[in-house]
Amino acid sequence: MTSNLSSELIDRLLREARSAAEFAYVPYSRFPVGACILTDTGEFVRGANIENASYGLTTCAERVAVQTAAAQGVRTVVAVAVTAPRAAKASPCGACRQVLNEFKPVNGDLVVVLDGVDGPTLTTIEELLPVAFGPRDLEYPSE
Ligand code: THU
Repeated sequence: MTSNLSSELIDRLLREARSAAEFAYVPYSRFPVGACILTDTGEFVRGANIENASYGLTTCAERVAVQTAAAQGVRTVVAVAVTAPRAAKASPCGACRQVLNEFKPVNGDLVVVLDGVDGPTLTTIEELLPVAFGPRDLEYPSE
C-alpha cells in the first residue's frame, strides 16, 4: 500500500522501534519486540514487550506503546512500526490490532510498518483488522 508518510518518518519509526526492542523484558520467550507509534501531534512513543512469570500477563510491545501514549493524553495514532529482531517479519497480534484500532484517526486509517529481513512492509489497521468493532459502534442510538 502507498501511504502519505514520508520515507524519513518511516525510517525514524523503524529506528525508534528497533531501539525500543533493546529494552524488551523477555526472560521466558527470549523473543524481543519493539514498537513505536507516531501521534497526530508528531510525537514518537516507544514500547517493548514486557513478560511476566505469570505468562498470561505479558504485554506486547504495541500495546505498551499505545497505552503509554494514551495515558499521556494521546487519542489519535497515525502510524506504528513493529520490529521483532528474531523473526523474518513482525506483525501485530490480534489483541494489539484491536487496541490500535481504538486510536486510529476518525476519518482515516492507521499506517502499520512491519519490519522484516526483506525490508519494511507497509499496511494499515483496516487491512489487518477488517470490519473491526470500534468506538463508533457504541454510539448507535438504542432508544
Ligand atoms: N509479542 C509482541 O510484543 N507483539 C506482538 O504483536 C506479538 C507477540 C510478544 C509477546 C511475547 O513476549 C513474545 O512476543 C512472544 O510471543
